[in-house]
Amino acid sequence: MNWQTVADYAALSQRAAETLLAAIRRDPRIVLGLPTGRTPVGMYQRVVAECVREYHCFRDVTTFNLDEYVGPSREYFTFMKRNLFDHIDIDLANAHIPDGTAPDLDVECARYERAIAAAGGLGLTFLGLGGNGHIAFNEPGTPFASRTRVVELSEDTRVANATPSTHAITMGIGTILESREIVLLAAGANKRAAIERLRSGEVSEAFPASALWWHQNVHVIVA
Ligand code: GLP
Repeated sequence: MNWQTVADYAALSQRAAETLLAAIRRDPRIVLGLPTGRTPVGMYQRVVAECVREYHCFRDVTTFNLDEYVGPSREYFTFMKRNLFDHIDIDLANAHIPDGTAPDLDVECARYERAIAAAGGLGLTFLGLGGNGHIAFNEPGTPFASRTRVVELSEDTRVANATPSTHAITMGIGTILESREIVLLAAGANKRAAIERLRSGEVSEAFPASALWWHQNVHVIVA
């Protein structure tokens, strides 16, 4: 695991944006795994600012979001449009988010897994970190082999995310671990305990982010 500690949130956002843009320059057809939440907002702002100056930045890029709430709210789709998709030249047909409004959610989860595979698998995936160590919506106790599925949200997560939703669709930990490269972003005092637990090296399903120790190409950027 490659650890990078930076001075503040602006530096974290800058480092993350540079990593994302460098990956697109290396491979304009890259498949990205993308997070929502407060942490990646600064990264997206910098990516957008840079991409208005670059020709065809996201034209051939494919993205898969990590998760979405179940129900009509489509909160993460709205978030992604507002923070990224509306401002870049991505083909929305290549910007994938689980459909929490699907009539059969299990079919939707299986479809999502197939779509990732059909795109050639995740190349570079960015993750946020829950205070309890969750990644995407994989709460403590999630098997590391888990795939995309419907989960019930913990009370803590619902409060932290200020959402009325009770369930979500999330990529599994197994799905995420298949990404060729992973960048975990964590900023602020409320992530410090989780970061220290991750740094301890203890690998346990009680702490989902610790699954990242099983992966050979993980960068952790901490502010
Ligand atoms: C949510 C998301 C996660 C995210 C986490 C941390 O639960 N489903 O993908 O990483 O919150 O969010 P934040 O960055 O707002 O602290």
